This record gives sequence, C-alpha cells and structure tokens, in this order.
Amino acid sequence: MSLLWEMMEEELAGAFEKAGYDPALAKVVVSNRPDLCEFQCNGAMAGAKAYHKAPLGIAQEVVNGLAGSRVLENVQAVKPGFINFDVQGQVLAKLLDRMEKMDRFGAAKEGEPEKILMDYGGPNVAKPLHVGHLRSAIIGESIKRICRYMGDEVIGDIHLGDWGLQMGLIIAELERTNPELPYFDAAFEGEYPEEAPFTISDLEEIYPRASAKSKEDEEFRRTAMEATHRMQQGERGYLALFRKIVKVSVEDLKKNYDALNVSFDLWKGESDVQKYIPDMIRKMRQKGLAYEDQGALVVDVKEEGDSKEVPPCMLLKSDGAALYTTTDLATLVERMQLYAPDEILYIVDKRQELHFVQVFRCARKAGIVPDGTHLQFLGFGTMNGKDGKPFKTREGGVMRLENLIREIEEEMYAKIVENRSVKDTDAGKTAKQVGLAAIKYGDLSNQASKDYVFDVERFTSFEGNTGPYILYTIVRIKSILAKYEEADRKIPEEDLLAPASESEKALMLALTGYPQAIESAYAERAPHRLCAYLYETANAFNRFYHETKILSEEDEKRRASYIRLIILTKKMLEIGIDLLGFSAPERM
Ligand code: ARG
Repeated sequence: MSLLWEMMEEELAGAFEKAGYDPALAKVVVSNRPDLCEFQCNGAMAGAKAYHKAPLGIAQEVVNGLAGSRVLENVQAVKPGFINFDVQGQVLAKLLDRMEKMDRFGAAKEGEPEKILMDYGGPNVAKPLHVGHLRSAIIGESIKRICRYMGDEVIGDIHLGDWGLQMGLIIAELERTNPELPYFDAAFEGEYPEEAPFTISDLEEIYPRASAKSKEDEEFRRTAMEATHRMQQGERGYLALFRKIVKVSVEDLKKNYDALNVSFDLWKGESDVQKYIPDMIRKMRQKGLAYEDQGALVVDVKEEGDSKEVPPCMLLKSDGAALYTTTDLATLVERMQLYAPDEILYIVDKRQELHFVQVFRCARKAGIVPDGTHLQFLGFGTMNGKDGKPFKTREGGVMRLENLIREIEEEMYAKIVENRSVKDTDAGKTAKQVGLAAIKYGDLSNQASKDYVFDVERFTSFEGNTGPYILYTIVRIKSILAKYEEADRKIPEEDLLAPASESEKALMLALTGYPQAIESAYAERAPHRLCAYLYETANAFNRFYHETKILSEEDEKRRASYIRLIILTKKMLEIGIDLLGFSAPERM
C-alpha cells in the first residue's frame, strides 16, 4: 500500500469516526476531475443507506471534522456527496524525505523471502534464435530482477532445447557430407578430436539445409529420426557429436544473450534430465497412474469442472520414445531434488499453456511436486509485424534475432547522429544501448499475455511511451546535474521544501507512487506496471522541467530543493530501468 494513501485514509478515517460513522468508509481514490481536486472519497455515498441520511449531510460532517487537518487541504463536500480534497505540499515533501531513507523507497514484500526457480529463454540448440525467443528472455530477465530486488532468491535456468530431432538432422546431414569423420566409424575406439568439426556459421547452414531436405526426402527424414534415436540411446560417436553441437551453439547463445543484457544461473537442458525418466515412469506405473493406451503410456489429468477438454498426458509414444511432456516432468524431478524451490515460474509462449496444465497436474498427482511448491505458468503473446501477423522479415522468412537487433540499432544510430549532441565516436555505442531499451521497453510496456505489434519507428521514437523517451529524461537530468556541479555547487542535503508550483507538486505526487508500482509489478509478475509508473514519472518530470528555471533559480534554498528532487527522480527512474534490464547512457 502506498504510504501517501495510508496517511490520507488515516486522516479521513479519524473524521468519519469522530462524526459517528464507520471509519472503513474512508477510501481514497484519485479524482476523476483533476481540474477540481487531486483526490476524492466516496464514503459518504457508500454509507448513506446504512445511516438513513443524505450523503451530502454525511460528507459535510466529515469535512467539518477535517478543519485544521495536517495532511489534507481544500477539503470540500460536493453534491451529491463527494468529499473532494488535495494533499498538502508540505506533506509530500516530508514523505519523500522519509521514503528516501527507506529500503527500496518503502516498497516492501509481505512474508518471508522465497526461493524461485525461473524457466525462461528456452532456446533450441543449433537452431537460430528467433524473435519468439526474444520475449521469453526479455520478460524473464525483468521478472527475475524484480523478484531479487524484493528480496527473493531467484535461480534462472535457460532450459535449452537440446534433445530433439534437430540434433538427429544435423548428425545425419554431417554423416552424408563428411562420412570420413571418426564419429561415424563404429570401430573407432580412440579419443575424439578436441575441436568440433564445424563452426557456428557451419551449423547455421547445416541445420536449415537438413531441415529442408527432410521435408522433401522421406528417406533422409527417416535417417535423421534414426540418428536422433541412436543418439538418445547413447551411441558413442553420436553422443560425442551431440556434445560438440551443444558446445558450439552455447558459446554463440551466450554472446547473443550478453548483448541482450540477459543472464542465466543455470545452463541446463532437456538432455540433462533424461536420466530421471526410467525411475519416474516406474513409479508412476507402480502408483497405477500411468497406463497403456493404444501402445502409448499415458496419465489421465482431466478434472471435474474443466471447461475445455484436457487430454491425457502422454509419457511414452508407442515406439517407446519420450516426449516434451516427459522431459518437463523429469525436469521437475530434478528441480525438486536439487533446489526444492517454493515456486517454479515458466515464461513461455501462451500457446503452450495446455502442455503446462498437463505437466503440472501430472506432477502433482505423481507426487513429484509437493503442495508447498507453487507451479506458475506465465504465457506471453505473439510479437506481430505491422500487418498484425507474426513478425517476419521483409522477404517473409522467420526474422532472426540478430537481424532484428541490427535493424533497431541502425534506426537508433541515424536518429542519434541527426540529434548531433553526441560526438560520432560514441554514437555507435549509444545506439546499441538506446536500441536495447527500445526493444525491451516496447515489449515490456505491454501486458505480457497480449500480442503486440513490433513497430520499429514507434519503439525508437524519443517521444511517447517508449524506452528512448525514458532514457532521454534520465540523460536530461544527468546533464542538469553536471552543469550544477560544474558551477562548483555541492549536492545539497537539506530537507525538501514544499512544492512551489503545480508541476512540482505533480512530480512529487508521481514519486510517492514508487512503492506501490514496484509492489504490484512484483506481486503480479508484471513489468508493464513498472513501465506505466516510469512513463508517468518521466512525463511529470518533463512538465516540471519545462515550467521551471532550475539552475537559474536565485533563491538558494529553493534551488537546492529542486536539485534534491531531481536527484530522487533520477534514482527512481534508474532503478526502474535496471529492473527492466537496460541502462541509460551519459548523453544521447
Ligand atoms: N524450447 C522450447 C521452445 O522453443 C521452450 C522451452 C520452455 N520451457 C520448458 N520447460 N518447456 O518452444
């Protein structure tokens, strides 16, 4: 709850009580007529029935009791029974002084810190990263940072897709083009070479070629499936090759995620949990949960009250092969064994929701995950192009992440050079930094579950609800502060003065909203709440900036108070963008 709200409601509650009414009626809301007042309370209307009195009468009695209030001002009873009021500027200044000394400016978590295992990123080894993986990485990174900031222990696991047909496709294609490699020699008993027989660029060519070939060539497809199976069964040469593919691919992935300012504590993958499968399945059979259906092994997971049909969870196909579901269940076995988290949070495309409903239910039934561990699926929507269809390249192909990032950076570079406030030497670096903010903010400012349109022009704009706008605001504050210090003035330590103008008061009001914004972003796992707060704050700051002579203010105390206020603004904005996963340059 916001500290400001607490103060205002306490004050109102006292007045309701004094007049003989239920203090619980003292609910404060932001005014829907900001031209008349900042806040209002509709409690008199809510209570009118119970007290058999006209609401305006009740409102007037409460208002009378607020004469001489040390928190509220301009308190008025208004037809048919609203109580309108403003908060005293002095109160805001004092509150901000108090917040500045608190941990996280007063944002607090209820209850003990938790241990959260986060499953995000989820790229597939040897396949190019595409924009679909971008969302998981961006949203996951931000939620991880928010939870850590609030005191939770978070373990981020990338959960690589490294055990599927793509591996067999690459192996089969390599065997076709380079049969002389020792990996394909069944009689070979020596050590396999240290160096991989391919680079990442080779892999980037091999996989699409093999994938295309498998669609036209039935024979090749069968060979690839066979290779996948043999690798999964542990054939020595194939397994060695598998490790090389993972190694080369992971090196490249690390570079990509570094560039995105996204990191993981664990680089585990599907292949790491295969060892848990036999025992897990044996137990599920023993419990009578898993049964054979047309040759496949399944577990029923439908529940009474399901509005949509939830099909049985398939553990083994009729040929004995494990599936995506099986792997996710085995991953839960390992996660409980090694980490025993309080919560496991998946950030995955919302089209996989049914899969996770099945996995979660099956894991509970089988006792893999105890009641004390919360399983949470956070499904995100699709990133669309301006045509409203899933984002594609100009040629209509799947957009690779690298290209998308390059496109944004180029656009940013052009804008920054045009702006000319930055010397050419650092324009490239700045373009990268601002470009990342454009991409991340463009994504995070939408509610995650919704589809959104990736609009390069809008996302890179310095105006409106964008990442660059937030950065621009921070850079503006940095430049004021630099000028202030150049003039050899010390950063003041005095208390804030009550606001001298409406725009200064509005900025103060915005800043007092910080704890509530953080708390709701945390509780709802919703970075867009934080974005909304940053945007509102940036707007409030810029209005204040345009209407106020900060550095040339002659009253020294007033000037010092302005400086303190903008330092506080900068701190909140900077923490905010750090929680979103990007940072601000010195100049733009
Ligand atoms: N690799 C998967 C994909 O590309 C996403 C993995 C999500 N996490 C999980 N535990 N299933 O669709």
